[in-house]
Amino acid sequence: MSDRINPLITEQLDALLYEETNLVANLANASALLKQTLTDVNWAGFYMYQPETDDLILGPFQGNVACVHIENGHGVCGTGLATQETQLVADVHEFAGHIACDSASNAEIVVPLTLSDGTKLGVMDIDSPTKGRFTPEDQEVLEEFARVLLKHIDKA
Ligand code: SME
Repeated sequence: MSDRINPLITEQLDALLYEETNLVANLANASALLKQTLTDVNWAGFYMYQPETDDLILGPFQGNVACVHIENGHGVCGTGLATQETQLVADVHEFAGHIACDSASNAEIVVPLTLSDGTKLGVMDIDSPTKGRFTPEDQEVLEEFARVLLKHIDKA
């Protein structure tokens, strides 16, 4: 049974990252906060954009070991990067090109992360074993979570 995501998680993140601008530390703690707070989630973390190779590389995360490189436009993460739009996927097995890193994952949400100057940072990726786990309301909360995260990173 999964609960709707409590909007207070954005305030928890804001407090957790208070006066800290280190990118790796903030992404690591953000992934831990997601994983320890959300119910029915098996993987939460980040893929970082590599402009030199125009792809994503695995960043801080909580969960099982995962694929390291994801091409721009491939899978749910690469589609989030290419379109710069949140990908809310109720059933990953219906998503053309889905990259199965963890066989437990059945639903996924990917939120693109872009700094205020337009620099693409990467994507935030959250997986669940339950189809339809993430709702449009959850999407709004997670997009706000991403905005709070970017606000702290932008100060660096
Ligand atoms: N399923 C993702 C790959 C990353 S893992 O879920 C951690 C995708 O299709 O992009």
